Amino acid sequence: MKVTEKRDNFTSKLGVVLAAAGSAVGLGNVWRFPTEVGNNGGAAFILIYLLCVIGVGVPVMMSEFLIGRHTHANTITAFSKLAPGKWWRIEGVAGVFVAFLILSYYTVISGWTLYYLVQSLRGGLLVSQDYSAYFTAFSSDPYIPIIYAAVFMLMTHWVIVRGVQSGIERFSKIMMPMLLLIIGILVVCSFGMPGAGTGLRFLLKPDFSKVTASVVLSAMGQAFFSLSLAMGCLCTYASYFTSDTKLVKTAFSVCSIDTFVAVLSGFIIFPAVFSVPNVNPDEGPGLVFVTLPNVFNIAFHNVPVLGYAFSGMFYLLLLLAALTSAMSLHESVTAYVIESMGIPRKKASAMVSCSCMALGVLCSLSFGVLSDVTVFGLTFFGLFDFCASKIIMPAGGLVICLFAGWYLDRKLVYNELTNGGTVPFRLFRLYVFLVRYVVPVAIALIFINELFG
Ligand code: PFF
Repeated sequence: MKVTEKRDNFTSKLGVVLAAAGSAVGLGNVWRFPTEVGNNGGAAFILIYLLCVIGVGVPVMMSEFLIGRHTHANTITAFSKLAPGKWWRIEGVAGVFVAFLILSYYTVISGWTLYYLVQSLRGGLLVSQDYSAYFTAFSSDPYIPIIYAAVFMLMTHWVIVRGVQSGIERFSKIMMPMLLLIIGILVVCSFGMPGAGTGLRFLLKPDFSKVTASVVLSAMGQAFFSLSLAMGCLCTYASYFTSDTKLVKTAFSVCSIDTFVAVLSGFIIFPAVFSVPNVNPDEGPGLVFVTLPNVFNIAFHNVPVLGYAFSGMFYLLLLLAALTSAMSLHESVTAYVIESMGIPRKKASAMVSCSCMALGVLCSLSFGVLSDVTVFGLTFFGLFDFCASKIIMPAGGLVICLFAGWYLDRKLVYNELTNGGTVPFRLFRLYVFLVRYVVPVAIALIFINELFG
């Protein structure tokens, strides 16, 4: 194990919460959550999602935090330190690998967001008649989406090169408040739209007839992705926490902020979607890139300037959310390269940015010239997403719980979660019960459903 650079720490509690919340709040909240709500019965899905966050998300996040903070090392080294010579290390390897894979395709979607932002501001977005064709023409272009993805990667790189304090912490403290402010403005604007009542009713009236086993499992999968669990990111961030960071409280704060942003994104999107006729809330992943521009176009037909402002703010929100998440994915891999290979941060982050971008090019082209190239029937984009979110992520969550619940010494876990007994944690036994039994069974069910369902 080589480590040559001095390790940085986060310097404030606010920095810790905003950086970890920045990792969690991402495209998953603004793009994927409303889509899932639309597909799975509105408020009933939200209720089940909340139960998953509390019962599964919080305990897994606490486990990642304690592993990272106890070892003060990148994810792979963390597992090696806690279980020397044991196969648990594979979980660390899988975490870093999956962060790398996700970053490659996350960058592509973030590049689309950047393009839509630029088009909104230039007034080029709200002129189309057919947004499905608009989106297909753009995403299948061999050059433009790659250029935007590369710009997005450069932005992420620019933050990561600066390190933990002057990069991640500083920019999270700027970007997260901006993001929350924009969400607040957009919720108010969206509530003012003509069909807002119908959208709100859709979000708030639970339709339990739509709840099936697969809806419950989708809610759990969404909670995992949205909370950035099992990918080494939170474990890496926790390795920069100081000994007085309160892990349990931080996990609750991060989960609350993440869920709050996801629900507010629903409050932005559905009132807007229901304010124009003949647009469905269950449009699938096209919701943000096809349905919404259409909604903005129709709703602000008479006052285009307002349309540009609304859509510009919406895509800026999405971009900020994506950037803070991409930073954590990048750092998870970069920390490993720095510490295990003894490579300085500047060079390590350049290596990660370039290699991820190379994979990103494949992902981007899989919407166009490489759409016929498939592996197991999936394009590169589909394959990376499938491996990351359907296989490695649930398996990783399972392993983390088994590790914290069964392998680690219970005293070590208690001491870490209570800062050596100085911070009370009355629900410790409940936590142990959840990570030992409930979460592993729940994750095993997702896994089986994803693979064979
Ligand atoms: N949580 C992020 C989102 O909701 O978009 C995505 C993500 C970031 C997943 C970091 C995993 C991760 F490690």
